[in-house]
Amino acid sequence: MRLKDKSALITGAAQGLGAAIARRFAEEGARVLICDVNAEAGEATVATIEAAGGAAAFQRLDVTDEASWIAAIKAAVERFGRLDVLVNNAGINIREPIEEMKAENFDTMLGVNVKGPFLGIKHAIPVLREGGGGSIINMSSICGLVGHKYTTEAYTITKGALSLMTKTVGVRYAKDNIRCNSIHPSTVDTPLVQVLFQDPQKKAERLGEVPLGRLATDRDVANAALYLASDEAAFLNGVALPVDGGLTAY
Ligand SMILES: NC(=O)c1ccc[n+]([C@@H]2O[C@H](COP(=O)([O-])OP(=O)(O)OC[C@H]3O[C@@H](n4cnc5c(N)ncnc54)[C@H](O)[C@@H]3O)[C@@H](O)[C@H]2O)c1
Repeated sequence: MRLKDKSALITGAAQGLGAAIARRFAEEGARVLICDVNAEAGEATVATIEAAGGAAAFQRLDVTDEASWIAAIKAAVERFGRLDVLVNNAGINIREPIEEMKAENFDTMLGVNVKGPFLGIKHAIPVLREGGGGSIINMSSICGLVGHKYTTEAYTITKGALSLMTKTVGVRYAKDNIRCNSIHPSTVDTPLVQVLFQDPQKKAERLGEVPLGRLATDRDVANAALYLASDEAAFLNGVALPVDGGLTAY
C-alpha cells in the first residue's frame, strides 16, 4: 500500500482524470476527498471507490471560490484527521482561438485553471505544514510545456502559469517538507477523442506526433500522480513530469 495512512484532496474528481486518480490513490490505501462542483457524479465516484473497499467522501468545491476552499480543507481534516496530498486537477478548456475568444471566457479559464490551484495551495499549506509536510500535484498539460497547434492560446497561458506556480511553491515550501510537482499529459483517450478519431486523417495526424504511437490512458496519468504523492518521490520537488509518450522530447 503505497499511500497507507495518507489523506488526499483531489479537485475535479467527479469524473475523468480526477476520478481515475482518486480510484488509484484509494487502491493504494489513501483516504480520498472527492471535490467537485458536480455532486451527483462525485457521489458516484465515492460509491465506486467504497464498493472496491476504499475510503472516500464527497465535498462540493468550486475551486474559484475561496470560502469553498476553506470549507473543503476543513472537511478533509475533520473527516480524515490530516491532509497529506493536494491534487489540483480541475481544469477547463473553452476552445476559442485568441482572435475569437471573448474576454469573459478568458477570465473564466484563468479562474478555474490558475486561481483555483492558487487558492487551494494557499489554504492547504498551513495544514500540510502542521502535519509535517506533504505533496502538492498540479495537473498541467503538454500545453504547459510547449506550443501546440491543436490547442488554444488561453489554455497554454493557464497551463504554463501552473507549471511555474509549481516551481515557486516547490522552492519556497521545501523548508516545510512540502513538495510541489506538476504532471503534463498528452491527449488522454476519452469518448470525445474517439469521436474525433473517426476521421482517419485526424487520427493519423494526432498519433503521428507521439513517439510511442498511442494516446495516454487515465491509468498512465493516475500512476504518475500516485508516484508523486508517495514517499517514493520524496526527493522530487519542482519537477514538470510529462506523461506524453515522448511527445515533448523532440
Ligand atoms: N483529458 C485530456 O486529454 C487532458 C490532457 C492534459 C491535461 N488535462 C488536464 O487534466 C485535468 C482533468 O481533465 P479531464 O479531461 O479529466 O476533464 P473533465 O472535463 O473530464 O473533468 C473535469 C472535472 O472538473 C470539474 N470542474 C470544472 N470546473 C470546476 C470548478 N470550478 N470547481 C471544481 N471542479 C470543477 C468538472 O465538474 C469535472 O468533474 C484538467 O486540468 C485538464 O486540463 C487533460
